[in-house]
Amino acid sequence: MAQQPWSQRFEGSLHPAIALFNASIGFDIALIEYDITGSQAHAQMLAHTGIIAPQEAEAIVRGLEQIRQEHRNGTFQPGVEAEDVHFAVERRLTELIGDTGKKLHTGRSRNDQVGTDIRLYLRDRIDRIQAHLRQFQSVLVNLAETHVETLIPGYTHLQRAQPLSLAHHLLAYVEMAQRDWERLRDVRRRVNLSPLGCGALAGTTFPIDRHYSAELLGFEGLYANSLDGVSDRDFAIEFMAAASLIAVHLSRLSEEVILWASEEFRFVTLKDTCATGSSIMPQKKNPDVPELVRGKAGRVFGHLQGLLVMMKGLPLAYNKDLQEDKEAIFDGVNTVTACLQAMTILFEEGLEFRPARLNSAVAEDFSNATDVADYLAAKGVPFREAYNIVGTVVKVCLSQGKLLKDLTLDEWQAIHPQFAADIYEAIAPRQVVAARNSYGGTGFEQVRQALERTRSLLSQDS
Ligand code: ARG
Repeated sequence: MAQQPWSQRFEGSLHPAIALFNASIGFDIALIEYDITGSQAHAQMLAHTGIIAPQEAEAIVRGLEQIRQEHRNGTFQPGVEAEDVHFAVERRLTELIGDTGKKLHTGRSRNDQVGTDIRLYLRDRIDRIQAHLRQFQSVLVNLAETHVETLIPGYTHLQRAQPLSLAHHLLAYVEMAQRDWERLRDVRRRVNLSPLGCGALAGTTFPIDRHYSAELLGFEGLYANSLDGVSDRDFAIEFMAAASLIAVHLSRLSEEVILWASEEFRFVTLKDTCATGSSIMPQKKNPDVPELVRGKAGRVFGHLQGLLVMMKGLPLAYNKDLQEDKEAIFDGVNTVTACLQAMTILFEEGLEFRPARLNSAVAEDFSNATDVADYLAAKGVPFREAYNIVGTVVKVCLSQGKLLKDLTLDEWQAIHPQFAADIYEAIAPRQVVAARNSYGGTGFEQVRQALERTRSLLSQDS
């Protein structure tokens, strides 16, 4: 077995199964580019402070760059003997540039190193997820723009409640995505702090300059306490909480698409680009994309729970438990990214709303009943009294198999003398929607204003 990377105080070597159990190289190889960048900044700082010579730093930076290339072209494939990505890179560096490579680890520890890597990784992925959110939003906004005048039943308790503009419905998800985007922006501030130079736990005896390396790496600030710096994973938990909410929102939308695509609703048609067939039932077209998105949400929530439980009993400072943060973070990032991409494609080209079916759906129910009550209330009947009158009207209609629009004017007037010919206009679905012109409501005018506000929000970057 290859010599272990740690100190000579060990005489025996690890049991092979324990070596495998201990190793993180199988997954933390995903950090390699960030590990290299972090190490390059550390080496430059060591030269800047006179701890190593400038030529030594140059050799280290160049050697690390070569490892980056080897990784990119697939020739650098460290195995379990390397234990983790940090040892793997350092060992390769020494192979490439000789003993100077052994100076790289001066004034730092793997504890502050791994903390630096994971923050650089997460900062980068947050930027990408924010860009995906923006794209998702703009696809929904584009779709909303073409469906301001399309009506869709609005539900509470999954019972028909009041008709809506389809655009209003879609814009609700744009709002959720906006909060997601802002949450990530907030989390990013706490991800973007440098623990580099905190050492194993207590700082270092070398005259390092933590500000210098932090600045090279684009960190906005530094951990002020070395113990906190090496053992904090709040930022990862915060990220996973933000990712969980993205997953909640995508899952709710998925649930709606699944309902809408069913024979019972028939509000959308799934296109062949995003639907699959059954192996036995030839008539079927399954909404796999939203189903997978709904299903994957559980993984992300699980990671949030996993990270919280991993942290709760840890004494200061670093404990090997923290190695478990990585698979959770990677999978959380990958899952949420993949779900956002899939849902963006689904709404861009994978489904089609059926306006004729939607517009007729809202004409076949009692979702205009509130408007009858509002009609009477506007004519001076106290709202609660009007509400009770309309309850009776609905009961009569149901017993006769009629809708409100089917009542004759005589029938209306028999119910209450305030009803006049304009009742028919008041209960027409399009008018029912248009009338909800309160700020944030579904009235067409409000929806157009909301679209405008959203457009200008999306055109700003922050
Ligand atoms: N692979 C380790 C991790 O992911 C790196 C830090 C190891 N530090 C230590 N003291 N053993 O956490």
